[in-house]
Amino acid sequence: AQHQITLTINGTERSLALDDPRVTLLDALRQHLDMTGTKKGCDHGQCGACTVMANGRRINSCLSLAVMHDGDTITTVEGLGEPENLSPLQAAFLHHDGFQCGYCTPGQLVSATAMIEEIKQNWPSVVSGDLEKVSLSDDEIRERMSGNLCRCAAYANIVDAIREAAK
Ligand code: FES
Repeated sequence: AQHQITLTINGTERSLALDDPRVTLLDALRQHLDMTGTKKGCDHGQCGACTVMANGRRINSCLSLAVMHDGDTITTVEGLGEPENLSPLQAAFLHHDGFQCGYCTPGQLVSATAMIEEIKQNWPSVVSGDLEKVSLSDDEIRERMSGNLCRCAAYANIVDAIREAAK
């Protein structure tokens, strides 16, 4: 039997029929929908290269079955900005050289975008004050981004980029 699911990906509704209900969200994106921006590093939840947002929360798409996301809103790296119109975080990564080989970058970008949003939404409970201003220490950024590994160890520049974008 085929498993029919519908996902809203980066604002566009996409339907797909899966023969096998064990297809991960990552493989559904890359192989069934030909959206290869999301990367497969370890395929078992260790590296964060496959990070996407599901209903606004970041997840490792290699650990999640596509059928579990029927009806969900998914944001991938392709949905963050355009080459001619980068998101503030993408522009900050470029400005700070927040990558070397670039393989982890889509996951870093999606993860940090979601993380900054989470903090902005929860900020009133953290401190009172200007909701638009988020200031994170480098240790906090590293902790909150600890699910995203970079084998080139470009961490210092990644942290610089995120700190700038979170301001
Ligand atoms: Fe999913 Fe590494 S590919 S965490």
